[in-house]
Amino acid sequence: MGAYQPLLFGTQRINEAGHLEIGGCDSVELAERFDTPLYVLDEQHVRERCRLYLSAFRSRLPQVEIAYAGKALLTKAVCRIVEQEDLALDTASAGELYTARQAGFPAERIKLHGNFKSDGELLMALREGVGRIVVDSLTEIERLSRLAQEEGKEAQILLRVAPGIKTQTHTFIQTGQLDSKFGLSLSTSAAREGVRMALSLPGIKLQGLHSHIGSQLFGLDCFQKGSELMVEFMASLREEFGVVLEELDLGGGLGISYTSEDTPPTIEELADVIVGGLERACAQFNYPRPRLILEPGRSIVGTAGTTLYRVGPVKDIPGVRTYVAVNGGLSDNPRPALYDAEYMALVANKADQTPTQAVRVAGKHCETDTLLAEVTIQPVQEGDILAVFSTGAYNYAMASNYNRFCRPAMVLVNEGQAEVIVARETLDDLVAQDVVPARLRGAS
Ligand code: LLP
Repeated sequence: MGAYQPLLFGTQRINEAGHLEIGGCDSVELAERFDTPLYVLDEQHVRERCRLYLSAFRSRLPQVEIAYAGKALLTKAVCRIVEQEDLALDTASAGELYTARQAGFPAERIKLHGNFKSDGELLMALREGVGRIVVDSLTEIERLSRLAQEEGKEAQILLRVAPGIKTQTHTFIQTGQLDSKFGLSLSTSAAREGVRMALSLPGIKLQGLHSHIGSQLFGLDCFQKGSELMVEFMASLREEFGVVLEELDLGGGLGISYTSEDTPPTIEELADVIVGGLERACAQFNYPRPRLILEPGRSIVGTAGTTLYRVGPVKDIPGVRTYVAVNGGLSDNPRPALYDAEYMALVANKADQTPTQAVRVAGKHCETDTLLAEVTIQPVQEGDILAVFSTGAYNYAMASNYNRFCRPAMVLVNEGQAEVIVARETLDDLVAQDVVPARLRGAS
């Protein structure tokens, strides 16, 4: 093995051939066998992250529920893994809920989120018997009350509160501040009004409160502040309505490493701050400790994902820069374009070589779809395999068919085995939903 050691995650290592290996599988062989672009998911790493969450929180507070936020990456196989690891599941749409139920995920361990759930989505949640519906607005409480009565059911709800905390992250993924589309504001009378309605309307059982303040967070202060504000609010509700709410969901948000400069807190540190903050707040307001729920997404699957691309033309513009084209881009990873997100990469078939070449990696879409604006990788040439790290969360989940690209396959790797968990889309899949009206069918 060469001297060079990049920052590796989970079961990633450099094997005897000098190739990147994940889950005991040589990534160059994976690229040959399953074609590229290819999402590779490290099963053991996902399981480890689930276990770390459970052990870190349950060792401090036995009753904690960890609900994986499926928006980060949801496929039927991922549902099976998460269920086997004893996590609950957060869904944010009929599609996510359907996927989970198709995978046999127990309904009572599922929550449904969304700032504008349709009647159809609410009915689906009621009929499937999901554990909690996280209600986001006053009109949704009314609608849910009506639908629940029509169905002869009682909806178990959490009320989403915007606690008024502005987090240090990309503005697109800040969600807890006053100026946000999500939830009922604490600083206006909306949250209090929501509680009043939820307590009085038939068909609704208010189990507790929910807040989610942002994503890819590195600072832990906001979690502490969040639990304090929520417990203070719960204590004030006890005063006003004589109700003691039993559950407090503090959302997700823990950041991960995308580059070597990113040093997120550990899950243990997060648990210390959240559980410590909750206990202090409960003591301060003399409030019985509610059952804590968390909803991590990115920090469960993010670093477990790697995308493999085939390298195309390498274009050197002397005195300017070198462009390396790969056979994917915006359609399989929109995060650089959306959030200026940065990633680390290496040439998978030369993984043991020292990175010496500064390049810009671009996709193959019909626009400037920069995937990695500036990265130093091993000397690269057409035909090589480029591995981009930390693509497990919000990549496949946000993939599109832009330029009529087929979305990549995903393989699950573990102990030398690789299994397809999402088949590569085909050209026929791309036209499957197209309809040509009869009047357009004849010859011109
Ligand atoms: N719970 C709720 C209510 C959420 O809205 C989210 C994320 C989570 C949990 C999970 O947060 P996480 O642990 O993954 O940070 N597409 C963006 C991220 C959007 C996050 C939306 N909500 C990105 O690619 O960075």
